[in-house]
Amino acid sequence: MDALLAWYEPRRRAYPWRTARDPYRILVAEVMLQQTQAARVVRAYRAFLHRFPSLRVLAAAPRAEVLRAWSGLGYNRRAALLHEAARRIVRDHGGRVPDDPATLRRLPGVGAYTAAAVAAIAFGVAVPAIDVNVARVVVRARLGEERATVAAVRRAARAWLDGHDPAAWNQALMDLGREVCRPLPRCGECPLAEGCLARGRGALERPGDRPRRPGAPFEGSFRQARGRVLRAALAGVATLARLATETGEPLDRVAAAVAALARDGLLEAGPAALAGRPSGRVRPVG
Ligand code: ADE
Repeated sequence: MDALLAWYEPRRRAYPWRTARDPYRILVAEVMLQQTQAARVVRAYRAFLHRFPSLRVLAAAPRAEVLRAWSGLGYNRRAALLHEAARRIVRDHGGRVPDDPATLRRLPGVGAYTAAAVAAIAFGVAVPAIDVNVARVVVRARLGEERATVAAVRRAARAWLDGHDPAAWNQALMDLGREVCRPLPRCGECPLAEGCLARGRGALERPGDRPRRPGAPFEGSFRQARGRVLRAALAGVATLARLATETGEPLDRVAAAVAALARDGLLEAGPAALAGRPSGRVRPVG
């Protein structure tokens, strides 16, 4: 445990959200970090907070502006959900981010992981925030396996958690899982190597271990198309035909992207647009 926190020490200030005290800032960071790598989040995080420096400013902003400020990060639905969460926090919690993981979880876009991360990092609540990277560390170091049930991981993580500094403990494991205890582990650099159960059993030296395959290519390209269509629509392009010209995407893909964006509350689309007609109109959500 001491070895892990000593390894983490120089990382305490490695990212701008690690020096933040305002729980709103931690919430923004954790939502951004849900599907985007930390290194890429840094710039977007600073720009977003420059534009929306407080939860109340964010809650009062029009949806389209929030989406514009999010542009470039991808997975834009997260921006709409964060915006909605800010409005609910103002409406139901007096503008204060809740500190209790169960209450946090009821907010839009906040799952078990994000709720635990915000509670632990912003408020020092002793709960483990378990994403895939953290789960891998727990399974290897504490259970001595390569696989385990969600319940077993949760139990092991809770038992292991350092109650004195849950913010540091959680973020140390996030960094360790991402940088060292990777699918192909770098045990030579690991502060936990000595006590690691999987390593003790020789389970981490199998030549068959391979990094997992990246996502299917179609998913990537549809997501990209969605991002392009949304950016164009936020810039004022108003019909399916013009969106297709502007983005270089075929009309059927533009129509599918518009339907998905409308369903997720990121765009407003008229019936003709939802039916895929070239003259169908879209506009930013107010
Ligand atoms: N990934 C998710 N949350 C993180 C955090 N607080 N620091 C670094 N990486 C993260």
